[in-house]
Amino acid sequence: MTDRFYITTPIYYPNAEPHLGHVYTTLAADAVARYHRLCGRETFFLTGVDEHGIKMVKTAAAAGLEPRELADRTVPVFSSLWKELDITNDDFLRTSEPRHKAAVSQIVSKLLDNGDIYLGAYEGWYDEGQEEFVTETEARHQEFKGAISGKPLQRYREESYFFRLGKYVPRIIEHIKSHPEFVQPESRRNEVLSKLAAGAEDLSISRATLKWGIPMPNDPKHVVYVWIDALCNYITALGYGSADDSRFKKFWPADVHLMGKEILWFHSVYWPAILMALGLELPRKVFAHGWWTSGGRKMSKTLGNYIDLAKIRGVIALHGLDALRFYLLRAAPFGSDLDWTDADVEKSFIELADVVGNCLNRVVKMLHRYRDGVLPQVSSSAEGIDRQLLDQTAALPALLEQAYRNLDLQQAALLPLELARATNGYLEATAPFQLAKDPKQAGRVDEILSRSAAAMYAALLGLLPILPVKAADGLHQLSATGDNLPLSQRFTAPPPAGTRVGQGQALFPKLPPATKPGPA
Ligand code: MSP
Repeated sequence: MTDRFYITTPIYYPNAEPHLGHVYTTLAADAVARYHRLCGRETFFLTGVDEHGIKMVKTAAAAGLEPRELADRTVPVFSSLWKELDITNDDFLRTSEPRHKAAVSQIVSKLLDNGDIYLGAYEGWYDEGQEEFVTETEARHQEFKGAISGKPLQRYREESYFFRLGKYVPRIIEHIKSHPEFVQPESRRNEVLSKLAAGAEDLSISRATLKWGIPMPNDPKHVVYVWIDALCNYITALGYGSADDSRFKKFWPADVHLMGKEILWFHSVYWPAILMALGLELPRKVFAHGWWTSGGRKMSKTLGNYIDLAKIRGVIALHGLDALRFYLLRAAPFGSDLDWTDADVEKSFIELADVVGNCLNRVVKMLHRYRDGVLPQVSSSAEGIDRQLLDQTAALPALLEQAYRNLDLQQAALLPLELARATNGYLEATAPFQLAKDPKQAGRVDEILSRSAAAMYAALLGLLPILPVKAADGLHQLSATGDNLPLSQRFTAPPPAGTRVGQGQALFPKLPPATKPGPA
């Protein structure tokens, strides 16, 4: 394990405004980046936009714009949305930037010099929605329509440069087999391996009929295939191929490339092949999450069946940004498809309020009511139900580390929530509010209050990557210090006896009925 961490999202097509799908990947990557930063690891989190390709050209033309004009209109919507959602990306790469174009040109030159690129002719099918070449068998299987968009596949017949993908396939198979953590989740890994077993043809990597893209350095009437251009962002953003490649040296290989499952093939086959051809290390993990679906189909701009920004902003206005983050990660095991329902959004907000907010509030209020707001001293060793709570508290850091390492982000959200739930159960079972009436039980009340405060402290620490504002607010209520210490140290140092806690304020205030959206 290294003390640095590099995570990326896909770079999105700025052919339309972002929607829930883009927000999902970006917020998930943000939670992971926040976790590793909190652990004290030097973290680099990259996102950006993929501006070239036929899809941009066609969308722009339909709007009477040049592709560059369309990008210039839409890219700021992405970058400002990430600010609005408090995304902690360290860079935002546009593929139209000179730093990227120059480095891609260099990369392609290197592949040309190595003899990994040759001139040929492509004849076959192309899915313009996915910017993807489709084999004859796949095309027939899909009835000559885009697998996601349902729009007719295009027949391309043109001169093209090819990358010797086939040469690298045996090494890629070997790498995926010998590094089980490389392509995840497991079911997707198996899909990639079985598709690879059928072999992969050399890849057409230039377009002679397109002007919008990065020119082939040896033959500028061709532009580089948009996917080759785009995948390279993961190293060009770090300065690979530029005068200052210190960031590249520090952060490559990436720890995680995160994406939706429809683009796993590009990341687990094309990208490793290019890296092998460049003599570079492969990323440590390529993880494909599931789709937000609607009516069983992937939410997409093309189908128009998506949750848009207005809807997302509505949820934030109602429940807060942290509650949205929690809902998205909690909704299903990370990797599975999911369906948005307003009722589930509401349910997960109530869960936060009833479990985390309520338990913290009970602990802080009881400390004020029975101990003048000061954490009591406890010297007895824990047994029985106290031991269970202590053990669950002590187990959290390692389980959380495992969940974040495996990108089990639903667990990352649920583990601390379950600790708060257990603390609530502990309070119910031990009933300090009854014991407090009996002066002879003062020592027991001290134990219960101290142990439940320590458990809530750990639960809130564990929630920090997902609820950065609310969990910090809760920790503040417990007068926790040590914000600058790595998480592992903070876990072992709950506020000591004698600490005066703050006032208990509801972390997730429920809305007065009048402000709730009523039935239409
Ligand atoms: N430009 C390429 C990626 C190049 S990366 C080198 C691209 N862009 S995209 O705008 O289509 O974004 C695709 C990504 O957006 C998905 O991989 C996923 O991260 C996210 N999502 C878009 N729709 C989604 C859903 N309906 N559900 C979940 N995530 C989805 O592909």
